Amino acid sequence: MNAPTTSLPGGTRALGDSTVTRFGYGAMQLAGPWVMGPPADHDEALAVLREAVDLGITHIDTSDAYGPYITNELIREALHPYPESLFIATKVGANRDTRGGWPPARRPEDLRKQVQENLQRLGVEVLDLVNLRMGDAEGPRPGSLAEAFGTLVELQREGLIRHLGVSNVTEEQVAEARTIAPIVCVQNMYNLAHRHDDDLIDHLAADNIAYVPFFPLGGFTPLQSETLSKVAARLGATPMSVALAWLLQRSPNLLLIPGTSSTAHLRENITGAGLVLSDDDVAELNSIGR
Ligand SMILES: NC(=O)c1ccc[n+]([C@@H]2O[C@H](COP(=O)([O-])OP(=O)(O)OC[C@H]3O[C@@H](n4cnc5c(N)ncnc54)[C@H](OP(=O)(O)O)[C@@H]3O)[C@@H](O)[C@H]2O)c1
Repeated sequence: MNAPTTSLPGGTRALGDSTVTRFGYGAMQLAGPWVMGPPADHDEALAVLREAVDLGITHIDTSDAYGPYITNELIREALHPYPESLFIATKVGANRDTRGGWPPARRPEDLRKQVQENLQRLGVEVLDLVNLRMGDAEGPRPGSLAEAFGTLVELQREGLIRHLGVSNVTEEQVAEARTIAPIVCVQNMYNLAHRHDDDLIDHLAADNIAYVPFFPLGGFTPLQSETLSKVAARLGATPMSVALAWLLQRSPNLLLIPGTSSTAHLRENITGAGLVLSDDDVAELNSIGR
């Protein structure tokens, strides 16, 4: 599985034994409102996925909890049989309830079921990457992940998972996971305005582990900042473009998975992320989250 060259902004980077484009795609926004139910426009959802791959993106992030199940079903419908270069990352550790909540589901039997369901819905025999999602909708919570992560390690040894990662975690949980088995990435909330993980990103970069920021554009509440708007206006770019370009320049171990349900936004984000920010631009933008 290789993506040796790309014209996408950020180029490529190793993720486990694969090479992926640093500009990836997060599929969560393809489900209905608040990530529940089907998309408003089924054909456009399929078009976004196909366009992402046609434009050269080789890293897609998903979960069976999106919809639930809807996002994985769309990915399979749009892209199966998958191109050899495509790397699909999924995550386990939560279910959905009827009110759209994300109740944790991390007992060994829950995780085994979720891995089996991801395999089945995506239509693959081995999952490229499974992130163990800890914490809750408010963010990471302290506590041991050993039992849950150990179950994923067993599933990896059984040949159902190629790579492991952790998500929505504290730095202590990252360290704990790494005492149990190698991880290829950490997926946490991070963007221009939420920089809690600055030190973690640098520590992971030193150890050649990828960091995959979720909500790179602010998620359900798009990033809003006077400074961001000012820098964007000066550069003749959109605030979204500047936010993505800043992430790509923040550290080489950052892999982007911005979400969108629109082919127009997908193309706009790819073009925008290629913006080159000067040291002065970066210094000004750094004042937002500090
Ligand atoms: N591990 C976890 O716990 C966790 C949690 C949340 C998310 N994730 C992953 O992270 C990925 C990224 O997060 P996200 O999709 O929630 O948030 P995001 O990438 O920060 O933002 C997506 C939002 O920005 C809008 N948007 C995108 N491009 C735009 C543009 N050019 N102009 C205007 N609006 C634009 C989208 O609306 P449109 O659809 O209208 O473009 C969507 O509402 C998800 O897809 C998911 O795979 C993981």
